[in-house]
Amino acid sequence: MDINWGDLSFGYFKTDYNVRCYYRDGKWGDLEISSSEHINIHMAATGLHYGQEAFEGLKGYRGKDGKVRLFRWQENAKRMRESAKGIMMAEVPDELFEKALMKVIKLNAKYIPPYGTGSTLYFRPLLFGSGPQVGVKPADEYMFIIFVTPVGPYFKEGFKPVAIEVVRDYDRAAPLGTGHIKVGGNYAASLRPGDRAHKNGFGSVLFLDALEKKYIDEAGPANFFGIKDNKYITPQSKSILPSITNMSLEQIAKDIGLKIERRPVAFEELETFEEAGACGTAAIISPIGKIVDHESGKTINYGKEAGPISTKLYETLRGIQEGTVEDTHGWTTVIEGI
Ligand code: PLP
Ligand code: COI
Repeated sequence: MDINWGDLSFGYFKTDYNVRCYYRDGKWGDLEISSSEHINIHMAATGLHYGQEAFEGLKGYRGKDGKVRLFRWQENAKRMRESAKGIMMAEVPDELFEKALMKVIKLNAKYIPPYGTGSTLYFRPLLFGSGPQVGVKPADEYMFIIFVTPVGPYFKEGFKPVAIEVVRDYDRAAPLGTGHIKVGGNYAASLRPGDRAHKNGFGSVLFLDALEKKYIDEAGPANFFGIKDNKYITPQSKSILPSITNMSLEQIAKDIGLKIERRPVAFEELETFEEAGACGTAAIISPIGKIVDHESGKTINYGKEAGPISTKLYETLRGIQEGTVEDTHGWTTVIEGI
């Protein structure tokens, strides 16, 4: 096996095994191991027709001490239950979620990137309605899968400022819709503006609130934060995904003496921030270098280098994930035996 760990992008890379479990007759069956990348599903599965589908994303980190850690997997399990509830799917119990994570990482241990390469092993838990329906109704059967794939940083810039494009002509989620859960439909709705942003040379989009287009929602597959006057400020909105990374950065920011504000963030406030960033499991922290709004002709510049607070947050978070900074909040789970 010859992998250039330092050169990995955030993409699919085949590994040896995935794990699967079926919900039938009102209960979850046994966890199965598969070496196939394919699944055989009913053509009338609700996951295909009516968007009964949710997913998660978390990472396994090889530490400086050689140990492998998961970061707050319990929060991903909980969010997947929330997503399931939101679109009437069978919920995956936390014990099953944990068992599946442990199994799949052990089976694919050789794909965990070494420490210091900037790459990690990404877990993609997936849950969808596999049972047939033609009427618009929830399925009776569900399939839960976790596969893993080694990945590099989501933004090719790594920890370098990205340029972001404001979106005013598309919404990823409605105010009372499904933006707060991790379901596929939100991502389908984001494809056109995301593709346009990339073609225009931007790393990501910045969605505004769907109702008034006055407030910041989130930055593509990542939450937004701004820093000013020793405060960590992040949007409060019903249509954004509650990011586990953001939640953790709020705590780290508090630990290093910043005040936290989670509240609506008006578009006009962007230019008052000293630093801005996008955060998420895939994105980690991406400092935002500039935000361009074509409609108003406004460009907000945060500079070509990451700011000192974003850098401190980034280093602390990565340090906790890789075992070089003390995990005072008990966020990591060491996986024994690999
Ligand atoms: N927002 C969206 C839309 C996402 O897809 C993600 C990724 O999961 C995030 C934010 C960041 O969430 P987390 O930090 O839990 O990965
Ligand atoms: C993650 O950060 O894990 C995500 O799920 C974002 C993604 C859609 C690539």
